[in-house]
Amino acid sequence: MSKIPPHIIDDIMQTSRIEEVIGEFVNLKRAGSNLKGLSPFTDEKTPSFVVSPAKQIFKCFSTSKGGSVVTFLMEKEHFSYPEALRWLADKYGIQIPEDEPATAEELAAITERESLHIINEFAKTHFMHNLLETEEGAAVGLSYFEERGFRKDIIQKFQLGYCLNVSDDFTKAAQKKGYKLEYLEKVGLVKSKDDRHFDFFRGRVMFPIHSVSGRVLGFGGRTLITDKKIAKYFNSPESIIYNKSEILYGLHFSKGDIIKYDNCFLCEGYTDVISMFQAGIQNVVSSSGTSLTKDQIKLIRRYTQNITILYDGDAAGIKASFRGIDLILEEGMNVKVVLFPEGEDPDSYSKKASTTELENYIKEHTQDFISFKADILLKDGEADPIKRAELIREIVHSVALIPDQITRQVYLQQIASQFDISEQIISSELIKLRKGVVAKQLQEPEILDLPVEKQAETFIPETGANAKEASLHDEFNLINLLIKYGTRVIEIEQFDENGQAHKVETSIIELVHSELDRDELTFKHPLCAKIYAVFINGLNENQLFQSSYFKRLEDQEIVRFVSDIESNDHELSAGWFSNYSIITRSESDRLEEAIMNSIYGFKAAKIEQRINEIRVKLQEPNLSDEEMMGLLAEQMAFERVKLVFADKLGRIILR
Ligand code: CTP
Ligand code: MN
Repeated sequence: MSKIPPHIIDDIMQTSRIEEVIGEFVNLKRAGSNLKGLSPFTDEKTPSFVVSPAKQIFKCFSTSKGGSVVTFLMEKEHFSYPEALRWLADKYGIQIPEDEPATAEELAAITERESLHIINEFAKTHFMHNLLETEEGAAVGLSYFEERGFRKDIIQKFQLGYCLNVSDDFTKAAQKKGYKLEYLEKVGLVKSKDDRHFDFFRGRVMFPIHSVSGRVLGFGGRTLITDKKIAKYFNSPESIIYNKSEILYGLHFSKGDIIKYDNCFLCEGYTDVISMFQAGIQNVVSSSGTSLTKDQIKLIRRYTQNITILYDGDAAGIKASFRGIDLILEEGMNVKVVLFPEGEDPDSYSKKASTTELENYIKEHTQDFISFKADILLKDGEADPIKRAELIREIVHSVALIPDQITRQVYLQQIASQFDISEQIISSELIKLRKGVVAKQLQEPEILDLPVEKQAETFIPETGANAKEASLHDEFNLINLLIKYGTRVIEIEQFDENGQAHKVETSIIELVHSELDRDELTFKHPLCAKIYAVFINGLNENQLFQSSYFKRLEDQEIVRFVSDIESNDHELSAGWFSNYSIITRSESDRLEEAIMNSIYGFKAAKIEQRINEIRVKLQEPNLSDEEMMGLLAEQMAFERVKLVFADKLGRIILR
């Protein structure tokens, strides 16, 4: 893929609104001038994820991830840098001068992950084309969907397709594009037997499964043949891009409405999601073929705390809903249930009923989980005291899973009044069951949360010696000032060849450069060295770079670092970045002193470091007298300079 021209990158970065983009993934709420939400990078219950619209940066305080909108997409969606930019360009309607589709050679250079994505994208388009533009597709696939009552616009929206009933139509097309057989097999689109390769999904209608951001991760393929011996659905196998238990079908399309209505309808199948959409109910997802997992629930929790399970009223559906209820409660979320008449699912019901009827059915049949369980379990044993006791225990068991004590208490009261038993009795049962739950959870190897401070120190590497750490601290301090104030111009005194003092204006970047250049000092920490090199390259081209320039670089380590400095600057700060700044408050007032102080501190640390190196060398057993003398002389010279610096530093600090 060709490179994106720099002016387009600028355009993309200026147009993109980080709050809008992240809002597609995280339910963000206003918090002062910032927005706050649950971190999409970790499993947390109290929001520690902050977005600053003013600065166009985000900061996740529980994982210490942070950066620009591009960083976010790279972290969250595993996009490459150009992919993140292309995604944004697409979202904001910015034209990127067109590039050739990926060829085999280009593909080889891209990572495996990318290759699998590209292949799935190609397959999706191929199958859509089959459905809409080929004779077989129209006669078999499209007419099937039409028979089921799927509207054209819905078919388009969900990018439904058809895999021709020819043994290797897709395989051939993909191989012609140069896609590696190995990858085609990995995404499960092609199966091989000896030397023969054929389409896994042949003769099936295709449901692409999208990531939250809309990339195709895999497919479900439904057979059109009614034969008990043939699996109704084939699904893509697990791969590095497709992890069933972490994906919900439809979420890409529904996340907006899930946030809007603060509720997520959860059903069982692909067609349920599609039909609900067609009926105008768009806050719906399905777990599609896996029984609901913890990860899927956590995915929903990014958008809402409320889940309404919509399951078929047959025995299997009810059993699945019981499991789902407990899992959802365990995650601390609220769960309701709607049971459809036996043998009906949301898809079939919505085809029989009008949208209003469907809505009404859902409204009238929504039950909280206690009544739901009670209704099911009490069906015929209303009067049987043993059954009743069992039922109550069963419900209390579910309540015991809820992490929040107050919520448990509320349910306890509800059970007491609903079943007309004293709260005390239920309470003692609840306490007993809760102990069991906690004990079980303790056995599960959960990763303990590290103290936040520990996690925040990501990119100052651990070093042994104190002197070294101090010098790194000085390096970061100087870079910190360069990023914040590098382009500011200050007046300094310079001496001409006659020893005459002159006031001259210089930018901080130039000042630091000339000071360090004079003593041939370099940065030791790779990140500092990288950033400093960017500044110097800019200087060589007569450019002074501001922090905004750094935030759009491809190197996300730099973006993250610069964002961290900015988030430290004002209201985003929670005091976790003191690593990067010694001087605070009146920084810009006392800019010159700060800069000189920092430069001297930097130099003093370097000198200390060299003196230490000499000391180590002096310990070597086989030194000749000559070498020893040389080293000692060097050491003394440095010690003298150190005194001068100490003097200067002292004065600056004391002033
Ligand atoms: N499923 C599957 N493999 C099967 C059967 C089902 O992966 N052999 C998954 C599919 O994701 C399907 C869901 O389980 O959507 C629910 O199954 P089912 O209710 O049997 O199918 P429907 O989605 O209702 O499909 P249809 O309406 O076309 O019968
Ligand atoms: Mn169905």
